[in-house]
Amino acid sequence: MHSRRTFLTGAGVALGAVALPSKMWALSLAKAAASNGAQSGSPNVPLLLGVDYYPDQTPESLWEGDARMMADFGFTNVRVAEFAWSLMEPSEGKFDFAWLHRSIEILHKHGIGVILGTPSAAPPPWLTQKYPEVLMVNDEGMTVSPGGRRFTCPSNKMYRKLSLAIATEMSRSFADTQGVIGWQIDNEFTLQRWGRCYCKYCRAGFQEWLRGKYGSLETINAKWGTAFWSQVYTDFSQIPVPLPSNGDPNPGLALDYDRYQSSANASFSNEQLAVLRKNCPRHFVTTNNVGAPADTLNLHELYKDLDFVSHDNYPGFIEIYAPNFPSEVLPSIVGMGHDSMRGVKDGRPFLIMEEQSGKAGQRFFSPQPHPGQLRLWAFQAVAHGAMGINYFRWDTADFGAEEYWHGILNHDRSHSPGFDEIKQTVKDMKSLGEDALHAQYAADSALIFDSDSDWALQIQPGQRDLTYMSHAISWYASISNMHTGVDVISLDSDLSRFKVVFAPVQYVLSEKQAARIRTYVEAGGTFVTSFRLGAKDESSQIVRTPLPGPLRDVMGVTVKDYVPIYSEKIGVKFSGPLAGTDGTCALWADRLEPASSATVLATYTAPFAGDAAITMNAFGKGKAVYIGADLDPMNLGRVLATLVALSGSKSSFEIPRGVELTTRKSGSTQWTYVLNHTGAAQTIALPGRFKNLLGGGTLESKSTIDPYGVLVLQSV
Ligand code: GAL
Ligand code: ZN
Repeated sequence: MHSRRTFLTGAGVALGAVALPSKMWALSLAKAAASNGAQSGSPNVPLLLGVDYYPDQTPESLWEGDARMMADFGFTNVRVAEFAWSLMEPSEGKFDFAWLHRSIEILHKHGIGVILGTPSAAPPPWLTQKYPEVLMVNDEGMTVSPGGRRFTCPSNKMYRKLSLAIATEMSRSFADTQGVIGWQIDNEFTLQRWGRCYCKYCRAGFQEWLRGKYGSLETINAKWGTAFWSQVYTDFSQIPVPLPSNGDPNPGLALDYDRYQSSANASFSNEQLAVLRKNCPRHFVTTNNVGAPADTLNLHELYKDLDFVSHDNYPGFIEIYAPNFPSEVLPSIVGMGHDSMRGVKDGRPFLIMEEQSGKAGQRFFSPQPHPGQLRLWAFQAVAHGAMGINYFRWDTADFGAEEYWHGILNHDRSHSPGFDEIKQTVKDMKSLGEDALHAQYAADSALIFDSDSDWALQIQPGQRDLTYMSHAISWYASISNMHTGVDVISLDSDLSRFKVVFAPVQYVLSEKQAARIRTYVEAGGTFVTSFRLGAKDESSQIVRTPLPGPLRDVMGVTVKDYVPIYSEKIGVKFSGPLAGTDGTCALWADRLEPASSATVLATYTAPFAGDAAITMNAFGKGKAVYIGADLDPMNLGRVLATLVALSGSKSSFEIPRGVELTTRKSGSTQWTYVLNHTGAAQTIALPGRFKNLLGGGTLESKSTIDPYGVLVLQSV
């Protein structure tokens, strides 16, 4: 009955994502987790090379044929039901899972495992009609209408109760159903037009959360500085949410509100998690996300108790939504997305819950992926640490808001342009084997991604166009160009394993974080940071010492003055190891006074002629580099690349522009991924002889890689 392809483990045992979770997979996951320093002991995770499927939108007469085709295709699993609340609970308390059981039985018969989604991202009309208080209120104070999705409040107790009720009924009904392997809670928390709710339930929830965080009103008044504009609170119930108030909100309150919304979504998810853990102990549990800037929550908080991170990967969409970035940066934006997912669970491999499978779109289509690009994007995810891929979606909807979102089958159920390519990709990934998909990504550098700094700068950018995200992306693009691996992590992670740590625009800095940076540099690390470092403390108050605040001695520099730049032209001249073409500075210039232990690596031209713009300090056994100027992209790329090299990190491959290289490791085995993001063939220089794992044969000294092609190499 199993026409699907099987997956051979190193031990030669045929395995797949069937009803019985495989012990081998559990072992390899635990092994991978242990070697990654991540927690082990979570439920078994089988091979996941699957597809998102909507039996709720598909005539039942097609289910059997679909399952057979999926099995022939090589898929191991589906994800289903995350938007099927109105079919699963047609009226309050009346549950109907019979149709879903019938669908799962068919899928299981064909050897297809099932990830079940809990449906709280889109409640049915009866629910919002009966309980209109569950509706979200947006940041303008407008109640959001039902009819789309994600229009509910994360704090509202009735919504939580109803969401938990359906999740509980589902978990009871499917705990022992053959074929079910795991769960996705909800769908993309906070993603849609409005990520945060400002309703009266959130206001009450915020007040409670503040009571827990600060204990007393005295502390809150002091931390926020409520003496300003007569905002001293004498009762918790007076504390507002940052709705329009004819004057900007208190920055401390506004930042705490963003944190509260993150925590409300995480606790919403955790309520469902507790029930799933109790009723379905053999199943894994995750939730999917797309990451910042679209998501407005702290993923470390959301995934803390989930088994692994999963996210949705639509590279073709970035072209539409990131029009300010040059096209050669687009693959880096995607790469950074993957790297930040891996960073959420300290390097543990992640799952792509939704992978683009064709033209994507709601009101309009994304560009048509070029031949090879769908395979390239899926391999890029694996190159950055994915352990599995689910394609979005099996067929293409003939109705609803996503009729333009192409799946593996067209509207008429013929094969989509990507059908054969995706089928080959699944086959290729299976041929790489389980160790490859669970191996650890190798990184010499770390880029800090800090939600507090991101949110606080959105509240008060300082310079109108200054955003944390765009700096994180351009720094990431420069560092990843060195092909020695970048982990995107929080400042709470272990820094000691990196040769160099980059922290652009680290605007909010806690004492604890400052202490960790100090220890890292003292012990021999290289820390590279920029203007706005430590301008604010954790409460979003301006620090009372000269900048860069608590790290002045580590950085070996004092900011004499900080200058937002609008139309002025300020030049930057480089020297020492950074010597090169003169540059320019936009958005921001910190005028620096170096300490005697620091070396000046760049200075400004008029009107700050002679002032230091970049310095490098020797501190303890390490180095600390302060980049005071918002450098033009060419020089930023050059400067950051030089700093990676100065930290002792260098790739032994020679890789042309537009080609990406990453490495994953398991024990002494390494997989090197070479990804050609350009539409032209490219030649790379190889440092030795390599097995060409996908193409077969061996490669030596150099190799040509097809347009949008992928090589997976192993040293021989
Ligand atoms: C994701 C979402 C899916 C579907 C897809 C295409 O963001 O989770 O439900 O909407 O994008 O828009
Ligand atoms: Zn709310």
